[in-house]
Order: sequence, then structure tokens, then C-alpha cells
Amino acid sequence: MSKLWSGRFNGTIDKNADDFNSSISFDKKMYKQDILGSLAHVKMLAKQGIISNSDQELITENLIKIREDIDNGKLKISEDSEDIHSFVEGVLTERIGSVGKKLHTARSRNDQVAVDLKLYVKESANGVINLLYDLLDAILIKAEEEKSTIMPGYTHLQRAQPITFGFHLLAYEQMFKRDVSRLKDAVCRMNYSPLGSCALAGTTYPTDRDFTATELGFDGACENAMDGVSDRDFCMEILADFSILMSHLSRFSEEIILWSSWEFGFIRLSDEFTTGSSIMPQKKNSDMAELVRGKTGRVYGDLMALLTVMKGLPLAYNKDMQEDKECVFDAIETVSKCLTVFIPMIKTFKVFRNNMLNAAKKGFINATDLADYLTKKGVPFREAYKLTGQIVNDCIEKGVTLEEISLEEYKKYNELFEDDLYDEISLITCVNKRISQGGTSPLSVEKQIESLKNQLADWKK
Ligand code: ARG
Repeated sequence: MSKLWSGRFNGTIDKNADDFNSSISFDKKMYKQDILGSLAHVKMLAKQGIISNSDQELITENLIKIREDIDNGKLKISEDSEDIHSFVEGVLTERIGSVGKKLHTARSRNDQVAVDLKLYVKESANGVINLLYDLLDAILIKAEEEKSTIMPGYTHLQRAQPITFGFHLLAYEQMFKRDVSRLKDAVCRMNYSPLGSCALAGTTYPTDRDFTATELGFDGACENAMDGVSDRDFCMEILADFSILMSHLSRFSEEIILWSSWEFGFIRLSDEFTTGSSIMPQKKNSDMAELVRGKTGRVYGDLMALLTVMKGLPLAYNKDMQEDKECVFDAIETVSKCLTVFIPMIKTFKVFRNNMLNAAKKGFINATDLADYLTKKGVPFREAYKLTGQIVNDCIEKGVTLEEISLEEYKKYNELFEDDLYDEISLITCVNKRISQGGTSPLSVEKQIESLKNQLADWKK
């Protein structure tokens, strides 16, 4: 196909250079957005008297037909064109002749590509937000079911204090909640239309940029044309948000992998989301969770690639910016696929409450509560802490737990110990008493669930 820019050229471009320059193999994803942008643009051109109404009608009709033809496979996007913008304009001109050539009045590919990509990113961000709503719902249901399930809470991957599994799950809920809020912010910030910025300096035609912005669902037009065509913040921001989201999915995946190992035995993933080994018949591998953890690196890579592309670019458009799209598309696809398998994997795993409880019984995770017991009886915390450390040490030597020492022996450590200490250090008490705001007790977990439900309902309105 002949080039849009062939005017001043006598020779033709080298074949390899042409391939190298072309972006159609990936930007064809944006054909819908490209046509949408053009439809708004011609509508504005006619409204402003820049082209005639009959020209607008002809162009509009045919752009819609081109979109239909691509949708239903009648029209294949030929990779001979340089990019999707050239392709659509080329087909239009083939079909309606010289009127088609009026479409690009008061526009440049620089604002065209910016608006296409923005529309694409906005839609994709909203798609990811919807997936996150499903994930948040799935975690909430599990958290509610497991609000009284006792398990060890860890720091340094060492058993630290008893917690409820519902509480643990709600920590992830908070992370994904922030991801939604970050994405929503990003969508708000990007919601200004670059269309009509033209090549970089605006135009001499009497355009109405607010009109096209509204037509395309933006809150307004970008205020500076040079920024309009140079800005890829919205891509970097969405990739940064996706990277943070992936870090959350990856941490959750890591725990799922640990929990479903024989060593932990806290959960079992459903057969639908695990794989076997080709040689070891006993194996059930958590491949999905491992892949999500692995693909996190890929999304970070997309972010780093784009940050690096953008870092030294003089204003305004530079061809380097064509490198934005593959990073963005790859990250969108990766995040969406990860969430699509992650959500049902969460919904379907089975919890082994007894194993969690048994793990919590070991590791002296109620030692803090024993120290608190003494503190409440007047022993300064540092002293109580030291004494409890000694008791734990002695228990390890003897191979017993804190619950197994007799009151007599406790009294040898400190006279203030009484029979009520056993209740105080029982795991159920340890958990139930942590009613501080945001704490692990079933009561606090219920409150957290309530507030999360309200937030979610509010968002989904
Ligand atoms: N394919 C190009 C891109 O993705 C479209 C913009 C071309 N603009 C230009 N001045 N060469 O960035």
C-alpha cells in the first residue's frame, strides 16, 4: 500500500526498513478505537463547517462498514500497511475515493495514535477493575467462611502469633482494594483527549476539541497540544499500577504454593488448577500460582521497558514512542489472564482447618500472651518478656509446650502465675482477645468484612 507520507519521496523505502518501521502487526488491536476516534473527528469537522455534511455522512457510513467488515472477518487487516491508522484511511479511500482523503483534515497520526491508545488503555483498565471486583468478592466469601479458623501468623516465616485465616485473607483483600483505587485514579487522570492536538502545535482550522472529547467519553481535552501528543504518562502509570497488582498476586501465589505443600498442608488446590508430573505419580503441582508469580517479572519488565523508552525523549512525538504499545498490550493481557485463572483457583481451594490449628499449637506462638499475662499482673513488660523467653527455652529442652507445664512449675518462675493462665494462653483466647481495630479476632474480622462490603457496593454502584 502506498505511504500516507509519500508526497516528497521519489525513491521507495528499503524492504527491511519498511518492516522495521511498521507497527501494524501489533497496533491492529486498536482498530475499533481508531475508527471511533475518526467518527468523532469527522462529526466535529462537519459541525464546524470544515467538511460538508454529505462528506461526513459518506465517511461515517463507510467507517462503520469497515468496522463491521473487520469484526466479522470480511476485511482482513493487511500487514502491508504501516500502521492501523494508514490501513483504515487507505481502505476508506479505496472504497469512497477522494472524499476519504478529507478524513485526516486537522489531525495528525500523532494525536490519532495518542487518542487510540488512551481509549484502549482506559477500556482495559476498566476491564481489570471488573476482574478485581470478582477477586475481592471471592476473597470476602472465603474470609467469612474462615473467620474463626485458627492458624499460625508468621514473621520471617517463623511462627509468630496465632491468627485467623479469615484475617490473613483480608490482608490480601486490602491490597487488591488499593489496586482498584489506584486504577480508578489512573483512569480519572488519563481521561483527557489528545485528539485535535494535531502534529504538535494545534491547527489553524476552527476545530472544537471539547466536542470530540465529549463524543469519546473524555472529561475534556488535554490543555496543551504538545503535551497531548508527547504524553505517555497514562501508559507508564497503568503499568506501574499493574506491577504493584502483580506483586500482590505474586505474594499470594507464593503463600498458596507454601500452604499446599506437604510441609504445610493448610490447603488443597482443586484439580482444575493444578497439574501432575510426567514421572512422579504422587505429584500435584501448583503451576497456576507459580506461573502468576513468574509472570510478575514479565509485567515489571514491561514497565521498565517503557520507562526507559520515555526517559530521554525530547518533545514532541518521536518514533521511539511506537515501542509503547507492545509493553502495554503485553501487560494488559498478562494481568487479565493471571486474574482469570487466579479467581476460580481461590474460590475452589479446600482448607484443612485441623492442620492449620495443629501448626498453630507448635512454635510457642502464645508466648507473647504469656508475657502479657504477667505484665497485666504488674510485672514490667521487659521483665515478663525475658522470663517468658526462659520458660520457652526450658520447654524446648524438655520437649513440651507452654500449656503442658504444671502450675507448680510456673510458680517457680514467678509467684504471680495462677490457674487462669491456661485460659489466657489458649489459642482461642489469644485470637478472640485481639479485638483491637483491624485485629485478628473473629469479631474484628466481621467488622472488616462489613466495611469492605460497603466499599465494594459503593464502587459497583
Ligand atoms: N505507528 C505510529 C506509532 O505507533 C503512529 C504515529 C506515527 N507518527 C509519525 N509521526 N510517524 O507511534
